[in-house]
Amino acid sequence: MIYFNSRGFPFHRGRRLRINSSLREMVSETNLSPSDLVMPYFIREDNDNPNIEMMPGIKRHTETELMEELESLKDLGIKAISIFPKVNKKKKSNDAKEAFNENNLVCKVLRKITKKFPELIVICDVALDAYTLNGHDGLTDSTEKIDNDSTIEVLSKMSVNFAENGCRVVAPSDMMDGRIRSIRERLESRKFPDVCILSYSSKFCSNFYSPFRDALGSKNNLGSSDKKTYQIDFRNSNEALKESLEDINEGADIVMVKPAGYYLDIVKELKTHSLVPISAYQVSGEYAMIKKLQYDSINVYKDTVIESIYCIKRAGADIVFSYFSKEVAEWLR
Ligand code: PBG
Repeated sequence: MIYFNSRGFPFHRGRRLRINSSLREMVSETNLSPSDLVMPYFIREDNDNPNIEMMPGIKRHTETELMEELESLKDLGIKAISIFPKVNKKKKSNDAKEAFNENNLVCKVLRKITKKFPELIVICDVALDAYTLNGHDGLTDSTEKIDNDSTIEVLSKMSVNFAENGCRVVAPSDMMDGRIRSIRERLESRKFPDVCILSYSSKFCSNFYSPFRDALGSKNNLGSSDKKTYQIDFRNSNEALKESLEDINEGADIVMVKPAGYYLDIVKELKTHSLVPISAYQVSGEYAMIKKLQYDSINVYKDTVIESIYCIKRAGADIVFSYFSKEVAEWLR
């Protein structure tokens, strides 16, 4: 608690500092710059469907479309994107081997991007949900039980595969135990000492991921199954903090809280208890809810989006992943 000995009104008039916009600007405590923002992109094969019903304004890009899109990102000051593939059904399997195929969709796109936009940071998701038949982030045995230790081996292979194809930030989002240490050791031994690990470390088992799973085409595969044996129970904050601190110990360079908006207490706590950069992911469900406002009033929509991002930063996030990133960067200009 802050010791606060107030003489009260009228010595205290809080409104003095709010009386005009110059004063409000001068005393504002939170800054937002486009370089704090990460824009997620969904990518697809040429013959796949671009539309994501649950996420108006967001689509799946082909390689060619993404290159055009990134051109338009150039002047906006956004330094980083993350990419998520919708993998063709025929390429999904129980062993998720497409995840470490050097010619998979992510690697093909990565090679193109690194060549054309060498300065852009491309954050690659490390998890198996896009590649497994049942939509789980890990390998499963015949009873659908997740096999943690064989999964982290595959995730390490997958990370090296991305690194070999130009990725400089790998982002494990799977919530398996020990994967950060395993990936870190593998990157070192395979001579990728400079590849960063951004760990989705405090990742909750959230209903707000639903539109994303739709975008990836993993929703129906997951069916009535859930991710409760690996993602964190939304009732828990100590556990969330512990998971992030363990990941930092294992070698994570950046950690993440996900979702963001309903989890700002976790962001704050993590910021207070750690020294690494903190990211927060305003997820697909949060996006979908706020996006609906666009059809009521464009100004209300815009102001609400800006508020939502500022609040995530105010809580302590250094980096914000948001499907609004591009729009926000345009508004900030
Ligand atoms: C995959 C992954 C998910 C998200 C990012 N990476 C979904 C999940 O864990 O089921 C969610 C992103 C979003 O909802 O926007 N491991």
